[in-house]
Amino acid sequence: MDVEKFFDQVLTVRLTPDRKALDIIDQTLLPGEVKRISLSTREEIWEAIKKLRVRGAPAIGVSAAYGVAVVMARSTAQTYKDFYEEFLDLKKYYASSRPTAVNLFWALEIMDRTIVDHQTEPICDIKKFLYLQADAIQADDIQISRNIGEIGFSLLKDLKKEGKEIGILTHCNAGTLATAKYGTATAPMYIALEHGWKGSDMHVYCDETRPLLQGARLTSFELSSAGITTTVQCDNMASLLMKSGKIDIIFVGCDRVANNGDAANKIGTSGVAILARHYGIPFYVCAPSSTIDRNTPTGAEIPIEMRDPDEVTEMWYRSRMAPEGVDVFNPAFDVTDHSLITGMITEKGLLKEPYDQAFKEAHI
Ligand code: MRU
Repeated sequence: MDVEKFFDQVLTVRLTPDRKALDIIDQTLLPGEVKRISLSTREEIWEAIKKLRVRGAPAIGVSAAYGVAVVMARSTAQTYKDFYEEFLDLKKYYASSRPTAVNLFWALEIMDRTIVDHQTEPICDIKKFLYLQADAIQADDIQISRNIGEIGFSLLKDLKKEGKEIGILTHCNAGTLATAKYGTATAPMYIALEHGWKGSDMHVYCDETRPLLQGARLTSFELSSAGITTTVQCDNMASLLMKSGKIDIIFVGCDRVANNGDAANKIGTSGVAILARHYGIPFYVCAPSSTIDRNTPTGAEIPIEMRDPDEVTEMWYRSRMAPEGVDVFNPAFDVTDHSLITGMITEKGLLKEPYDQAFKEAHI
């Protein structure tokens, strides 16, 4: 498998060649159809984030940054004041799309600073700086996930035994589809391929991830496309897998990490961590520093997105699978207590408790 060719095929977010629109893979259609769509208006970009056509914390951040560059490039404002006010309105609008992944707010803040820092320059130049900044956010994300991958790969190397595959469990999709290139939770596996490992050296068990099936539809799609041995199981089968000794290590992503290390990630992640503790399996959160929110003291303060009940009762089914009118609980994320996390793999190193101290020392 040519790993670079694979990454080209699954590049989540890029600009169209004329740089006037975002060009994304519509992830709601995967794995059946790999279709790219272009988004040029603020409404199209907002809708794509809200509906998870583009998703995963880092990819949401990159999309918001390019979404600012593309939309503000068409601004007809003649004064800095009008231009900045137009941006602030756009920033508020994008920020209302999804509440949990902090990368969205992080990227919008960086774009805000870019405008303010260049306020004395002509508006046509500020527009160029916005594109350069969005390019930089994307390029940085590639390097960040590479670093996370190298650290995760060193953990895999420690587990490697002659003639035995390494069993890895992951939840949701923190893969190349969710970032600019390597993913976070999948980066160790892709880096392993780059270092010459065979896909069969690893066996990745992907939780299907109810209700939106990111594990079944996206993670198993991208890992198996890259030639890595892949199995999909329903979320409630993870316990049995762990008990039977098939899982050596767990890597998951995150949407927002609080200052004490509590980590919000796709609903179900905290259950995986509790099981991992019970069975003595190392549980690692792969966290780019853009996802670490030192302004949020603990997981209790992380806003959790609540989504449409239809995702639980109707989506994916031929007919409705719960009685009409029944109450539905559909949080998109949960928070894993920091005490359950073996280590946090950031681009700046493998961090351990106490996390507030570790973040400070790593200059996060
Ligand atoms: O609702 P989603 O699909 O955007 O949730 C994604 C996740 O929970 C990922 O694990 C997280 O964003 C990390 S992506 C590198």
